[in-house]
Amino acid sequence: MNYIGISCGFHDAALSVVDDKGEIKFAAHSERYCGNKHTKHLNIGIVDDAIQYIDDRQDVEIHYYERPLMKYLRQLRAGEKPVIANISAKNIIGEGLIHKLTDGLGTKVHTHNHHLSHAAAGFQTSPFDDATVVVIDAIGEFDTISIWDAKYVNGKAVYKKLWGKRYPDSIGLFYSAMTKRVGLLPLDEEYILMGMAAYGKPKHYAEMYGDLLESSVDLDFKHNLHIGVTDNFLPNADDMDIASSTQCLVEYMISTVMDRARVLGKSKNLVYGGGVALNCLANRLLGDYFKNIWIMPNPGDAGSSLGSALLGYGGRVHFSNAYLGHDILGDYPVDNLITELLTKQIVGVASGRAEFGPRALGNRSLLADPRGNEIKDKVNEIKRRQKFRPFAPVILEEYTHQYFDMPNGFDNSRYMQVIATCRHPDLFPAIVHHDGTSRVQTVPNDGSGIRQLLEAWHETTGCPMLLNTSLNIRGEPMVNTRFDADRFEAIYGIKVLS
Ligand SMILES: [Fe+2]
Repeated sequence: MNYIGISCGFHDAALSVVDDKGEIKFAAHSERYCGNKHTKHLNIGIVDDAIQYIDDRQDVEIHYYERPLMKYLRQLRAGEKPVIANISAKNIIGEGLIHKLTDGLGTKVHTHNHHLSHAAAGFQTSPFDDATVVVIDAIGEFDTISIWDAKYVNGKAVYKKLWGKRYPDSIGLFYSAMTKRVGLLPLDEEYILMGMAAYGKPKHYAEMYGDLLESSVDLDFKHNLHIGVTDNFLPNADDMDIASSTQCLVEYMISTVMDRARVLGKSKNLVYGGGVALNCLANRLLGDYFKNIWIMPNPGDAGSSLGSALLGYGGRVHFSNAYLGHDILGDYPVDNLITELLTKQIVGVASGRAEFGPRALGNRSLLADPRGNEIKDKVNEIKRRQKFRPFAPVILEEYTHQYFDMPNGFDNSRYMQVIATCRHPDLFPAIVHHDGTSRVQTVPNDGSGIRQLLEAWHETTGCPMLLNTSLNIRGEPMVNTRFDADRFEAIYGIKVLS
């Protein structure tokens, strides 16, 4: 049996394949095949790629990450005008693609609760036998926050919901509303708002709190923030101060949820999922509430394609890395990358399987020598993004503590999910944010290409880290194929090695 998990129809369409031995055969983002960032549609490219990893297309189950009818009812209640055809997961995915995936057989589509798919994506990829699972996102069908007790019984994952918050009270909608308030794109540029927080002061925290929150304990909001806040909300405030105040308030709310989860849950292990789990700045607080923490590399809705496949499979998968997407064949070009780094300081790499998740983790990365004062501007020139945004470091894991102070609860940060304080900001200004923190990726001794490269770089230069940013043309998703890499080379004049 092959379990195909699908999330699509809203944003960030994705497809995952899990076999009956619990191996994740394939997991990828639709956007990387069509070039349309955050596309809600699947396409023939991702389906063709996935098919290579399905043993028998006549022996598959298809699992969809949410319950369309429930979502339809919520949209009706919210005064939206949902499309009636969208109460069928088959319609949303597309009959043609289902037939392609099943070799013309067609099949029933199993649907799952949106937050449960998030919970499964986290718990069944985690190393834990039991966990308290917290899901925080903008909105599922009705749920916006949920807390679960999760454990295995006879090898099958069992979930018990302990607490939940429903639409329209939503931490994720609040964050998206503030993203829109400062002129950024909601459901896309929340990470920029988070980065801006370091440049402002939380001057408007009290006002924001008073104007928006009805109950700080139960997280009831005074207004439905689904449509954003009015233009009169903090009319003269500086955008950086709004970002800082927003971050403070979201951290307060996340802490409130984590405190509740610690009291309600039986386990000291936290599994955290939903789009809000991508707030790596707020994640530094999680260790104050739980001893062990797992955030899978793709905790947003795209990751729920894997979550729904795992609900079909039922058991734990042995998750070893996030390299699960399109394959660019060949050995990782370590020697040539070192040569380029030593001579040009900057080089692209597109090798092996693409990352499943929003971060480039070394297989579709733009890499640079992180030392010195000039490299940040050089890479920014290529990336053409806001000058205030620093880049991330990728480091041999055993050197992490020599260069960074990790927050409580995090020994490593393999998927760039938490910030750490850099111990030598003067030596590495390109990878340090305004507040002295870095979004660090630590690489264990796992034989991966990026590991081999870091070892060779360390041996050659004595420096155990590189600057790492995603390999993408401005406004486009990350490079996926060799063809995309060639386009990048042609546009920016930077070599991309495979
Ligand atoms: Fe979600």
